[in-house]
Amino acid sequence: MKHHVILSYAKTAFRLSIKQLAIASLSMLSASGLSMAWAASGSVDPVARGAYLVTALGCADCHTPMKMGPKGPEPDLSRLLSGHPEQLMLPPPPKADESWAWFGSATNTAYAGPWGISYAINLTPDKETGLGAWKEDDFVQALKTGKHAGVGRPIMPPMPWSALSHLTEDDLRAMFRYLQTVPPVHNRAPDYQPPSP
Ligand code: HEC
Repeated sequence: MKHHVILSYAKTAFRLSIKQLAIASLSMLSASGLSMAWAASGSVDPVARGAYLVTALGCADCHTPMKMGPKGPEPDLSRLLSGHPEQLMLPPPPKADESWAWFGSATNTAYAGPWGISYAINLTPDKETGLGAWKEDDFVQALKTGKHAGVGRPIMPPMPWSALSHLTEDDLRAMFRYLQTVPPVHNRAPDYQPPSP
């Protein structure tokens, strides 16, 4: 008798756990079904994703010029992502030695090193001086290959294209989409200068 009670208790417990398991796996299924539907419907807004990436990856650190503010250097938000200011002509950089190999301007948009002098370019959608006339594929290929617009001369330091080349194509496209929505600034960053022989 005692044995029978224990057995039926065990059976009930077993049935219960099967039922609970079924409920648990059903809810897991519907959760993954949901997230699949979410991805399939394309509800991730590429512009929002691009804004997130451009902000988190620090593109503005080099592509927005710094200016002197009341508390020290601060990004010039009126020139957001517009590259090295075209009117700002710089004197020749200091001489490098074995200890100090490269230098950055006070705006953090111009860089002198063994590669010559490079200037952060205008990433705003201005048609003449920014990325306004670029195709999405030019941008993706530039960051994937390290060549200007994917086909031209090598992209110079300190532009971190080789790290960025690890991003997915979707993320690179999202970044381009976002950059096309920032206020256009007319500013032609100076051309790259190779090292003097
Ligand atoms: C450490 C500084 C630095 C950071 C950070 C940086 N850039 Fe640059 N970027 C540069 C410089 C300098 C150049 C110009 C290089 C040259 O003239 O070869 C450049 C050039 C570019 C170009 C032009 C490439 C071409 O085809 O000629 C693009 C596009 C670009 N950057 C996008 C970005 C994006 C997007 C980010 C953020 C994910 C970013 N950069 C972060 C410094 C930087």
